Amino acid sequence: MIIYSLPDYQDFEYKIDGKKTHLFILRNRMGMQVAFTDYGARIVSVLVPDKTGDLRDVVLGFNSIHEYLQADEQYHGATVGRFANRIANGCFHLDGKKYTLQQNNGSNCLHGGPTGLHSKVWDRRISFKKKIDFCYVSPDGEEGFPGNLKVTVSYELTEDNEIVIKYKAETDKKTVINLTNHAYFNLDGEGQGDVLSHILHLPSDHFLPIDENQIPLDSEVSVDGTAFDFRSPKKISQDIDKDDVQLKRGNGYDHTFVNQKPISEAAASAYSPNSGIRLEVFTTEPGVHLYTGNFLSEDIGKSDRKYSSRSAFCFETQHYPDSPNHPQFPSVILEPGQVFESETIYKFSVKKQIV
Ligand code: GLA
Repeated sequence: MIIYSLPDYQDFEYKIDGKKTHLFILRNRMGMQVAFTDYGARIVSVLVPDKTGDLRDVVLGFNSIHEYLQADEQYHGATVGRFANRIANGCFHLDGKKYTLQQNNGSNCLHGGPTGLHSKVWDRRISFKKKIDFCYVSPDGEEGFPGNLKVTVSYELTEDNEIVIKYKAETDKKTVINLTNHAYFNLDGEGQGDVLSHILHLPSDHFLPIDENQIPLDSEVSVDGTAFDFRSPKKISQDIDKDDVQLKRGNGYDHTFVNQKPISEAAASAYSPNSGIRLEVFTTEPGVHLYTGNFLSEDIGKSDRKYSSRSAFCFETQHYPDSPNHPQFPSVILEPGQVFESETIYKFSVKKQIV
């Protein structure tokens, strides 16, 4: 039995590239507690009550900045950008000009490159212990992307047990942008084994199949009759090990689902019958990337337990991977004078009965 608590402030006081890092905590009257750090504008801990009223920490992470820096997996809870997910061959064209990015995932550029937004120390401002704003200015050419990009990510904890995430960005040169949060969820609590018995519901009629390099093919495909049909809730385990070329390419689920819901309706949800905890995701983004932690590789987490493959899942709300190289996908172009805005809500509740 793991007794969950928040990490200590002093273990997050460190200096990276001359900038100080910290831990911040938001609490609500429902007993929920959420910890963040300015290193990567990331979620560190999310303590929510389970069906018996005990608090469980439902995101993977570490107890100190030092461990975040040492970890094999870089993206725990982080804000990911300037372009979340993959860009094929680390290159794209804008107005006839070729931009070259670092290849940090085979030939792909993954998650904005090796020193993307997840690795930066952001400036921050806390308002009334309910909201925290992180701000970072990514200089023109950083990781190969054009334009000075000013990014703000604000997290708010509501009395309805929601974490409301709002992204804003402005550029001074035409650029591409795709931001997401990379929290790894385990609704039984981090360190409590795999998530295969979690029940997922994704109302999406279509998903994006991928090639051998995990780059989406040109068109959306119906989930009908495939392992990707979560329109009726089903366990992650039900189809994940099926003999299916798409699952083989992702080593499990590592695919974008087309979100056809407005932000007032859930684009995805997950539920653990064991803890009774349910997570619903609401978003303005056109895609929800489901990743079942297939490549997690035994980092030791907050409760001194190993984070093995499939010990968590991510619902990464975002535009489609590799969009700059697929003109038919929803646009990821940001022009000077425009304001990029995006919102995602992670809402937690306790569900008494089985779906
Ligand atoms: C995303 C990718 C995965 C993996 C993780 C980070 O979800 O799609 O393939 O790279 O990030 O490890």
